[in-house]
Amino acid sequence: MQKSISLKDTAMRLQDIDFPLQALLAAPLQGVFVISGLLDDAAKRRNLHQEISNAFYTLKRNQRWRYVVLLSDSIDVSLSLYPLLPVIRLSPPSKSEIADIVSNFLLESQRDLNNELQRQLVQAFSGMPYGEIDVVLRQMLSKVSEGALMPSFALGYKREKLKGRGITLPAGPDIDRVAGMDELDKTMDKIRLLFQPEAEARGRRPPKAVLLWGIPGTGKSLAAKLSAKRIGGAMVAADWNSLVGQSVQESMANINHLLDLVDSSGTCVLFFDEFEKAFHGWDSGVQGGVLGKMAGRLLSWMQDHTSDVVMIATINRLNLLPAEMIRRFEYVHFFGSIHAGALHEVFKVHLDKHFKYNFSFKEWQILLREYRGCTPAEVAKAVQHVADDLYFRDVQSGDFTPELPQLELAMLTAERRTFTPASSQREISDQIAEIQNMAEYAKPVCGPDQSDFAVIEQPLMGIPNSGGTQKTKRAV
Ligand SMILES: Nc1ncnc2c1ncn2[C@@H]1O[C@H](COP(=O)(O)OP(=O)(O)O)[C@@H](O)[C@H]1O
Ligand SMILES: [Mg+2]
Repeated sequence: MQKSISLKDTAMRLQDIDFPLQALLAAPLQGVFVISGLLDDAAKRRNLHQEISNAFYTLKRNQRWRYVVLLSDSIDVSLSLYPLLPVIRLSPPSKSEIADIVSNFLLESQRDLNNELQRQLVQAFSGMPYGEIDVVLRQMLSKVSEGALMPSFALGYKREKLKGRGITLPAGPDIDRVAGMDELDKTMDKIRLLFQPEAEARGRRPPKAVLLWGIPGTGKSLAAKLSAKRIGGAMVAADWNSLVGQSVQESMANINHLLDLVDSSGTCVLFFDEFEKAFHGWDSGVQGGVLGKMAGRLLSWMQDHTSDVVMIATINRLNLLPAEMIRRFEYVHFFGSIHAGALHEVFKVHLDKHFKYNFSFKEWQILLREYRGCTPAEVAKAVQHVADDLYFRDVQSGDFTPELPQLELAMLTAERRTFTPASSQREISDQIAEIQNMAEYAKPVCGPDQSDFAVIEQPLMGIPNSGGTQKTKRAV
């Protein structure tokens, strides 16, 4: 009894002091002492390594039985401390361990959850440590009465928590397929199959990294989001700028945390949107070269990891990536201007969502000619505007019904005259040219135009169409 009171007192006193190690050495106590947070302060405490090494030798000389455990998020221990301070990495529980925790919890709390909801719950908990899973399960007991809402509660918690560390779990895409991009589709299907257990039997494994390169609005982010759905995995998006912390140590802890999280998430896409940001100033040595260290950590993970994680990065400018990084991507696709057949597919996907329509072949030809050079995002936006206008018109005239409205071609062609496509801007057309010039690095997202709309194309602004066309038989 006496002992436990003195320990508690000491714990309280140690919490408030600047030098817990010295205080501990001075206190007449024996036992196991756990100090958390001390290693995280390394950036602020210049002599920390000295303090630790002094403490080690004092403890060693001393007759008392004491054992000190330092807890930290980061494993950035200097080389000189390695022999004194063995590092034990605690990984979050694996998926099957989480599945056990969840089923025990359901049994104890007498709740029933079907297999699919249990699977979603396990997915939501992946990457979280044991203690945290326990806390969230307990919160769920009091806050969620319906079993069907449990996975979204856990996911909501995880989203909030990760946001603070530069990680988001993106919402699903606005449409369910990347239209008109047959070559990209083949690659994605290959990747999906490489995630199947059969692949392993042949010694095949999923690619570690895929790069989607092209001008804005061409569907890169959409393709990345859909690929997660396609392979049946989670999607973890990282924002490089938010991963950079106040100190080198904090930044490294953030990137390590991110990589641990994806490594323990089972089948998963690690998504870096606009990845060139990661390399802006990476070799400049700012902030103690933190950007270079982070990039180095990511590079070695890209090479070494064996988990079922495919990293998908999107990028506007390829020349901003260092060559050793480009080499790490096993598949590189470029998104350029799309041919008429692909544009037709993109239109259909978006029109089907908003309208009833019945265009003749001739009308399609007019539409595709008018929208030539537009990106899929510009098509999506134009369709959206026309849908909004029709809704507005019907509400104002009192003709509103919830049915999809009938679309006339003239509405879309009129909308086309309200904007200038990005491809006609100098900066963007330069980027398209650059993409074409470096195309040997990458595969186009669409092959030759096999559709009835394939025409003998005039080069756009002197730049050949990225997909080429069947009729011109241009090599792609
Ligand atoms: N291939 C496509 N098929 C259908 N819609 C597309 C396609 N590509 C882009 N879009 C539309 O454009 C929007 C913006 O695309 P996004 O993926 O964000 O472009 P990027 O990342 O290349 O800038 C998408 O949300 C979607 O509505
Ligand atoms: Mg994008």
